[in-house]
Amino acid sequence: MHELYTALAEYYDAIYRRRAERVSREIDFVEELFKNEAEREVRRILDLACGTGIPTLELARRGYQVTGLDLHEEMLAVARRKAEGKGLNIEFIQGNALEIDFDKEFDAVTMFFSSIMYFDDSAIQELFNSVNQALKQGGVFIADFPCWDYSYYYKGQNNVVWDERKGDERLVITDWREVEPATQKLHFKRLVQIVKPDGSVRAFMVDDELNIYTVREMRLLAEKHFRRIKIYGDLHELRPSDRRYWLVAVK
Ligand SMILES: C[S@@+](CC[C@H](N)C(=O)[O-])C[C@H]1O[C@@H](n2cnc3c(N)ncnc32)[C@H](O)[C@@H]1O
Repeated sequence: MHELYTALAEYYDAIYRRRAERVSREIDFVEELFKNEAEREVRRILDLACGTGIPTLELARRGYQVTGLDLHEEMLAVARRKAEGKGLNIEFIQGNALEIDFDKEFDAVTMFFSSIMYFDDSAIQELFNSVNQALKQGGVFIADFPCWDYSYYYKGQNNVVWDERKGDERLVITDWREVEPATQKLHFKRLVQIVKPDGSVRAFMVDDELNIYTVREMRLLAEKHFRRIKIYGDLHELRPSDRRYWLVAVK
């Protein structure tokens, strides 16, 4: 059971408010990749690990025919409600990205916001296989992932604490990240405290294990499954100082 995607699903968009605010810039970049990298016109998209649909809804708003898939029904409930509220017709499916069984149905498959880090060396190969199978010839797989060097985010501190609001509730969020250099595992820990106007507090602890990939490793792994690979930096061509990467893999 993953608290961030279950008990806290209703708070996900508030926790990631700043990320949600920049999603339109991310999708501008993704549309450029569709135009410049895909070898077919992109109309139908499978958004894997779609969560509460932050990028999924933006893609649908721009006229793409989108299917969103996620492991957690609680996340999908939020996504469905948001799509309905905006009058967007998106198919949402509960399922495991490793067990999808689409056959050459999509022009593009996306996996946003570091979700690819849930897949270890063996699972990521299964994922690439399933994605490849789901793509039409010339279709493109796009996934973003961060740099392993978290000192950049923390600027010398051990943790990050910040505040958000959801209605009349205040959220106090404390994050730690611990990297195991030998195994390239990232232990992502987060304490979310929800403070009600009457001062009562509910607290949730998230403790997640993620897989770190360098740009070179991601390229080498993806090369086994796709015809053409390019890794971009943070919404532009890869630069040495980039801290977020975009895998672009063409079938
Ligand atoms: C960091 S969130 C990203 C959500 C969304 N892509 C976004 O950009 O906001 C990671 C998501 O991955 C989903 N997830 C993790 N493992 C999965 C799997 N094996 N299959 C499908 N979804 C998975 C979680 O349920 C969660 O919604």
